[in-house]
Amino acid sequence: MAAVGDGLVKGLHHITLVTASERVNRRFYTEVLGLRRVKLSVNQDDIFHRHLFYGDERGSSGSVVTFFEWPHLVRGHPGLGSPHHLAYSVKDVEALLKWSSWLKRNGLRVSGPHIVGDRVSIYFRDPDGFLLELASRIEGGIDDAALREMFVEEVDVDGITQDMRLSLMDHASPLATDAAQLERFLSKTLGLKMVSKRENPHDSQAVILGFGCEDHDFLRYILKPSIRAGFVGIGSIHHIAVKVESDEDQKKVMQTLDSVGIRHSGIIDRFWFKSLYFRDPFGNLLEVATTGPGYTVDEAPGVAWLQTSSSTMARAREEKD
Ligand SMILES: [Fe+2]
Ligand SMILES: [Fe+2]
Repeated sequence: MAAVGDGLVKGLHHITLVTASERVNRRFYTEVLGLRRVKLSVNQDDIFHRHLFYGDERGSSGSVVTFFEWPHLVRGHPGLGSPHHLAYSVKDVEALLKWSSWLKRNGLRVSGPHIVGDRVSIYFRDPDGFLLELASRIEGGIDDAALREMFVEEVDVDGITQDMRLSLMDHASPLATDAAQLERFLSKTLGLKMVSKRENPHDSQAVILGFGCEDHDFLRYILKPSIRAGFVGIGSIHHIAVKVESDEDQKKVMQTLDSVGIRHSGIIDRFWFKSLYFRDPFGNLLEVATTGPGYTVDEAPGVAWLQTSSSTMARAREEKD
């Protein structure tokens, strides 16, 4: 059986989650995280509910998180089939420190900084309770004590400055129980190699297996043999989409799935891209999406909300009171 070639999958395309409220979700992802609302659509598979898209100012593939608004659903929890968290890249540790201060100023509880392999990260939760990470690559290593010292004092930040701007996602972290099975599956179906293996500083029973291309491990599976099934609900990831550059590459993935008997959705035209869905052996829903034609096919790129004004925060405080 022919496997999909190495390098066919180029990184993350988008990640789709579930939210209870469009209004709360939009305010958080645009005003607190500074992403642009790329689209407001309806869920093509459930046309009575909305589908929200946020990303950078061009809606670049790899920058976009989308949400199904399903207010009636119960809260999800991570486990097999329900990924653990996602991370956006931050330019450097200085910008990460600004983010930490900005998020705290917006009333969020922030955990970190934590060093995980070659990244420094902070963690926090969105209004639906979903765990988000901001991660900065460390160039040439960093001393743990010096890093903690740096984050003791908060910096004065009253908006999202250009250097803090979020664009590409760093990784998504689904859960799995069997390393060999996972490695075989991702290699065969997506041509992804294991490029990193790390201890999990947050859980001694788990390790983090990074799959991707070259040095970017954009799928960082958390391997924990004892993990049970999760549940996809409000505040969880519904599916993770990786990108291919052409319809032909997407067909190659589909033919490989057919040849090994893995059930899939067939190719579905989503207007801004084409989609192919299937599940990994641990129940996580994956999508292979084409980079084209892209979110700018039907409207011009907009301007990301880069400088959140203090009046926004004042308004938020007033509504809270
Ligand atoms: Fe992570
Ligand atoms: Fe999708």
